[in-house]
Amino acid sequence: MPSRALPEQGTDWNALREQMLTMRIDDIDWRAGRTPLHIYFAGDEVLKVAREAYGMFMSENALAPAAFPSLRQMEQDVLGIAIDLLGGGVHAAGSFTSGGTESIILAVRSAAKWFADVGRLSSRSHLLIPESAHPAFDKASELLGLSVRRYPIDASCRGCATRLSEQLDADTMMTVASVPCLPFGTVDPVAEIAEITRRHDIWLHVDACIGGFLAPFAKMLGSDLADWDLRVPGVRSLSADLHKYGYTAKGASVVLYANVDDRNRQFFDFDEWPKGRYLTETLTGTRSGGAVAAAWAVMHHLGTNGYKTLARRVIDTRARLQREIALIPGFHLLGVQPLGLLAFTSSHVDIFAVADQMEDKGWYISRVGRPPALQMTVTPAHEGIVDAYVRDLRESVQFVTDRGIASRNRSVVTY
Ligand SMILES: Cc1ncc(COP(=O)(O)O)c(C=O)c1O
Repeated sequence: MPSRALPEQGTDWNALREQMLTMRIDDIDWRAGRTPLHIYFAGDEVLKVAREAYGMFMSENALAPAAFPSLRQMEQDVLGIAIDLLGGGVHAAGSFTSGGTESIILAVRSAAKWFADVGRLSSRSHLLIPESAHPAFDKASELLGLSVRRYPIDASCRGCATRLSEQLDADTMMTVASVPCLPFGTVDPVAEIAEITRRHDIWLHVDACIGGFLAPFAKMLGSDLADWDLRVPGVRSLSADLHKYGYTAKGASVVLYANVDDRNRQFFDFDEWPKGRYLTETLTGTRSGGAVAAAWAVMHHLGTNGYKTLARRVIDTRARLQREIALIPGFHLLGVQPLGLLAFTSSHVDIFAVADQMEDKGWYISRVGRPPALQMTVTPAHEGIVDAYVRDLRESVQFVTDRGIASRNRSVVTY
């Protein structure tokens, strides 16, 4: 039963801690690689760095850099590193945000301000995006009074650029390329899309919330990914989450702009009240210094070599899983998935019935609705589970096939 009121008497921390450990008992065992999303675990040492750095600065407020020059320094360091990794030139700039959704909302808001500045914003202004793009773009559009048109694509976004050029019109303000997209793990053709957006003067945002801190290291390791970041002419903004493959504490992302003028469109500057000028760079007011400090500490703790080592583990584990899954009769991957995320389905069995069985075996499963499929964001924590996962998957397929079982649950909820 949830509490309905504050207890009269306080309780000692040790007792509360015990209580919280008990509350945790049904949570998914992410250390053991049982969850395909939500957690990016790079090991206990990295976790300790993030936790201690977070604790050191959790009371400080990143809203007030004048009061906490330490946080200003750390934030600038993190942004400088991100800009360097993600191909920003001398004019690039960015902001530290609470997560991918905030980064995306800010980019859409900046795009809308630009559209207004060039006299093109109207009630018909819209985003025209591949259907695999994250709902954060719809959330941003709802908040800003814009509309979204999603165009259907195949899992690999083949022909995406053609679709875009066929469907855009004078009211198309913005489009998106995902690196990778959440449903399929595939990377959209950024350069092809950028060519269209340059020609029609449309804002292109690269949503690298998942891949932003994995793809640069994959590339250093020899992956043949085409350029996809701020290096591509026409990419105006980019979101990359530190709390995903940056392996830092939750509440950390960056939104970057190829040009500082676009970053400055993000500012909220208000002076019409008694207290004086109120200027914020992001959506939030008070921001925990903890998230900034943890990001700074983890990035400096891992360094390029640490991130490369983790990227190697992720890529090798993803490739092993892909190989093993593709060997199951009737199973295939949904497109080319070159980073950490994979998605697969079966032409022989009801994949959601298989998912039910996997859940019964203690796996937390992430389903994709269209087409029905399962997906997984591979992290170093999955290194040790490949054999068990594939064995359970094979057993589940056999069980469902032998009994002709249909799925007990067809609804797909995405968090
Ligand atoms: C591609 C993509 N974009 C944006 C987001 C939103 O990020 P957040 O949940 O940190 O707000 C996610 C989250 O999984 C994502 O996968």
